[in-house]
Amino acid sequence: MRKIAVFASGSGSNFESIAEAVQGNKLQAEIGLLVCDNPKAYVIQRAKQKQIPVFVFSPKDYESKEAFETIILRKLAEYRVDFIVLAGYMRLIGSTLLSAYTKRIVNIHPSLLPSFPGKDAIGQAFHAGVKVTGVTVHFVDAGMDTGPIIAQKAVDVLNGDTRETLQSRIQEVEHLLYPAVLQELLQKEFTEGFLECLSER
Ligand code: GRF
Repeated sequence: MRKIAVFASGSGSNFESIAEAVQGNKLQAEIGLLVCDNPKAYVIQRAKQKQIPVFVFSPKDYESKEAFETIILRKLAEYRVDFIVLAGYMRLIGSTLLSAYTKRIVNIHPSLLPSFPGKDAIGQAFHAGVKVTGVTVHFVDAGMDTGPIIAQKAVDVLNGDTRETLQSRIQEVEHLLYPAVLQELLQKEFTEGFLECLSER
């Protein structure tokens, strides 16, 4: 059984959908740890309700990204985590984690990348007036939402949509897509050298 760590900063609805997929055996993995950089985030309650271990920290207590990522790395080793799943973690991953978990960090982003990277992707798409936006799951590199794309799903922007209605349809798609992609990825990664194939593209 592969052990994943979910990194999140906010509400954690994606964390919840991943945890439910694990509970329902649709995702054959164990969530070994929630890593959270915001002590007030609701995702911490969600993890506690599910008895999933939590490591919460405040970046301002550390002198650098390297300093807190070194502590995170220790925690990941302690819980024997072999794959990192970013789910609303509002922070760029630094070289400490990237080099320890090369090709083993994925992220979900609420747009069809490379369109609308960065913060408030849904608002950006809404205000740009696009007719189609969506969701992307991708590997994480040092850039902002720039790593190799693994999967995408389009979401139509409907007449009469508000930013909020669009967001709720995008999140519905996220909650189905992310667990399904993780399941495929974790199986393939260890059986078919999927990551090697991807890096050769
Ligand atoms: C999601 O829309 C995800 O795509 C983005 O951050 C949001 C997190 O939402 N990276 P939640 O905390 O999982 O509800």
